[in-house]
Amino acid sequence: MPLLIKNGRIITATDDYHADIFCQDETITKIESSIDASELPSDTEVIDASGKYVFPGFIDPHVHIHLPFMGSNAIDDHESASKAALVGGTTTLIEMICPGPDDEPLNAFHEWNTMADKLSVVDYTFHMAVVRFDDLARKQLTQIVNEHGIASFKVFLAYKGALNLNDGDLFDLLTMAKQLGVITTAHCENADAIDAMQSKLIAEGKTGPEWHEPSRPVCVEAEGVSHLATFAELTGAHIYAVHTSCTAAVEAAVAAQLRGVNIWVEAVAPHLTLDETYAQKPDFIGAKYVMSPPLREKSNQATLWNGLKSGVISTIGTDHAPFNFNGQKDMGKDAFTKIPNGIPSVQERIDLIHTFGVLTNKIDLNTMVSACSTKAAQLFGLYPRKGAISIGADADLVVYDPNCKHTPSVNSSYSQVDYNAFDGWELTGRSSVVTVRGQIQARDGEFVGTVGRGNLLKRKPTHF
Ligand code: URP
Ligand code: ZN
Ligand code: ZN
Repeated sequence: MPLLIKNGRIITATDDYHADIFCQDETITKIESSIDASELPSDTEVIDASGKYVFPGFIDPHVHIHLPFMGSNAIDDHESASKAALVGGTTTLIEMICPGPDDEPLNAFHEWNTMADKLSVVDYTFHMAVVRFDDLARKQLTQIVNEHGIASFKVFLAYKGALNLNDGDLFDLLTMAKQLGVITTAHCENADAIDAMQSKLIAEGKTGPEWHEPSRPVCVEAEGVSHLATFAELTGAHIYAVHTSCTAAVEAAVAAQLRGVNIWVEAVAPHLTLDETYAQKPDFIGAKYVMSPPLREKSNQATLWNGLKSGVISTIGTDHAPFNFNGQKDMGKDAFTKIPNGIPSVQERIDLIHTFGVLTNKIDLNTMVSACSTKAAQLFGLYPRKGAISIGADADLVVYDPNCKHTPSVNSSYSQVDYNAFDGWELTGRSSVVTVRGQIQARDGEFVGTVGRGNLLKRKPTHF
């Protein structure tokens, strides 16, 4: 059904103006200061956006939905996670495909894509994690890029014995990524250093969730960023440091940027809004707040916000990784090393950034749109189809009420996880209407659309 959004304040990464938007056949076809509804097809639905912002659909460049990890499986499926994303204003998800070390990459791609294809309510694509790099993997990864349009890789410099890639393979993979024009996203820590620190702390009887951060302190993350940047410098590959949590790691990335390394930096909503004291909560409650890299000492947050403001940090994702407190996180009751890592926030991201970033003047609205949508579209080959409000762009639009006050809870969340890390917080701002390719899929925090509407977004390599 054609859609007219009237009287809204349109905010993109670069612009801020009042206009009407007309959408037909999945795309934006007209943007004018005033569009007369009586001149449009009679079945046009009109939305009055007076007093509201109109944003391009937000993109989350870092989520985990199907995730076999640390002896468990993340609890969301593609329906629950994508509904949570959607009602929070996110219309495109980039999920990490994380196969096991013995799995074939092509089988993993089909496994993830089949699940998403059936259930996702938003458009989606993947970063393909490389956890093995033999001849078969090399051949299949090339196919995944060239035939299936997955134009980004993921590597883990963490999780020894599970997802970690060794240095020899890292060098060869980045060499291949450069040839293919693929950007490589990376979890930057140091698997061996963490393994040694974990053994030491456990042997000392330091077993609670509060010891997770000391087992992988900021120097480990900074070393991971420097390490990756060195390999990118040697190979010419383009790299993207995911979920950067602290000043030391951002400084390592900036040092590489200044040397001419093509490195981009991502922050995630949990590190911007939560700090290490949450993981120190007594009675094992801290386990809800165990993720990697860990929540840090609060002063690191200023660096992340300032990095976004200055452009040193490009994007804000979530690293949504949903594990229940009961039955999953509590596998680590006797040893923090067994707590499945992850803090879900795919539904809350935009309202957290609006409340704690924009309303406190840490970043402006244009930067919010850039970091939560446009930059990810540009870096990952989706722009201007996604991340823009322009003629011909997909009609993924968020009509946003900046004054709506609400409180996240387990009940308000579409994620299936049994806790909400932001339970009881007062947030200001909420998506009133969210469209995916011109169809209204969510209203006022409720899903009203079609399960399975989401399409796989095929992308072309651009990072040569
Ligand atoms: O704690 C996290 N981040 N869990 C998900 C896996 C990852 O490292 O991204
Ligand atoms: Zn990670
Ligand atoms: Zn992650």
